[in-house]
Amino acid sequence: MHAFVIEGGRRLEGRLRINGSKNAALPILAASLLTDQPVTLRDVPDLADIRNMLGLLAELGCPHSKRDDGGLALRVTNHSSSHARYDVVRTMRASISVLGPLLARRGVARVSMPGGCAIGDRPVDLHLRGLAALGASISLDQGDIVARAPAGGLRGATVFMGGPFGSTVLGTANILCAATMARGETIIESAACEPEVVDLARMLTAMGARIEGAGSPRIVVRGVDQLGGVEHTVMPDRIEAGTLMCAAAITNGDVTLENCPIDTMIAAVDRLACAGVSVRPASPTEDRLRATVRVTAGRYLAPIEITTQPHPGFPTDLQAQMMALLTLAEGNSVVTEKIFPDRFLHVAEMARMGARMFRQGPTVVISGVRKLRGAPVMASDLRASASLVIAGLAAEGTTTVNRVYHLDRGYERFEERLNALGARVERVGDRTLAPNQPAGSEA
Ligand code: EPU
Repeated sequence: MHAFVIEGGRRLEGRLRINGSKNAALPILAASLLTDQPVTLRDVPDLADIRNMLGLLAELGCPHSKRDDGGLALRVTNHSSSHARYDVVRTMRASISVLGPLLARRGVARVSMPGGCAIGDRPVDLHLRGLAALGASISLDQGDIVARAPAGGLRGATVFMGGPFGSTVLGTANILCAATMARGETIIESAACEPEVVDLARMLTAMGARIEGAGSPRIVVRGVDQLGGVEHTVMPDRIEAGTLMCAAAITNGDVTLENCPIDTMIAAVDRLACAGVSVRPASPTEDRLRATVRVTAGRYLAPIEITTQPHPGFPTDLQAQMMALLTLAEGNSVVTEKIFPDRFLHVAEMARMGARMFRQGPTVVISGVRKLRGAPVMASDLRASASLVIAGLAAEGTTTVNRVYHLDRGYERFEERLNALGARVERVGDRTLAPNQPAGSEA
């Protein structure tokens, strides 16, 4: 198990290209199960979660190979297993994304029911209700969800995806995939509007699916008999981009990000601007999904309010990183988490670095301090770990962020990328933790 040792206080400067999006790539990889034709994907990031998904797809009869040009080639060669086992699902919740594609293509799916995780309960009731509305019978056997399509296959229906915390991103992806080959028309109401759903719809459309309205709360799908092969480039990762923006800002840096999906980051850029961080196009661009932007920040940071919301609101996946930044703002900031109300594992750890935070339920008040001080810290989820790295970049002295396997699930060679911008982050063997710590599965 590895840890990061960070020497804080170095200004970040330079240029980086944003990687392909983890959360777009995961359901897109699962959608490869929808066809027997070749699927080629570009810009799939090299991450622990992606390797887990590729392992699961291989078990489901869809092996992959790396192409010379860096693309990933996948093709279904065997339909005999439709079982996503407990051992796989417990290391990665996004395994649930194979449910819709398996059901649509093979008429049956057996997927271990994901449990809770570090950021909350994470039920999948909306996924199951949606599939049931398309005619699937759903039961639970030995902790596995068993879904079966009726004789004659899934049939189109109106499916409502709204829950107590808004829509569901992977639930929408599952129903979208299932509906592509259902008989007739499916209307997904209260669909997730996240850009990752739009990217999936783009891929499915290129495979021959008939989809309208992706990116809006009402998606209409007209079922087709079969889907073909596809070549698709995964959208850039807006959460990696936002994380690097926070890292640049907290070090008063000057960082240019290429391949930045700025069009999907309006809420984040708005909040950064209110805090005094400038995010501007570095060159004229037609493609606002792959723009080049320059991030600069002076020493003064203003306190702000943030409420996380479904897209296009401020993303929960950037809440922790923004909070790290606000620990150094001049005044009181207020952060309210409306998607995962307990997603605050970073709060107690940042307090170890001198941050002043007061939590009341889903709201945290952050009283800015003049400086953070390095300390050994750890967090058991991906974005909380990223926020501790950001805090460590600005802290006086040495910060050791333990258990960086959480970080490796969502950030490709994060320390190398930060070091390329002038940070001093060293990956070392974990000094403090016993082996066999259970792997996290919050994404
Ligand atoms: N919810 C339900 N019932 C359901 C599904 C979800 O009540 O059937 C609730 C959840 O408990 C939560 C809210 O709805 O309160 C939204 O959850 P959602 O289903 O949208 O989350 P997800 O699809 O499982 C994806 C990302 C998460 C990201 C959330 C929210 C992937 C692989 N994961 O999860 O990413 O936080 O959407 O935007 O796309 C991360 O990358 O660090 C991460 C956790």
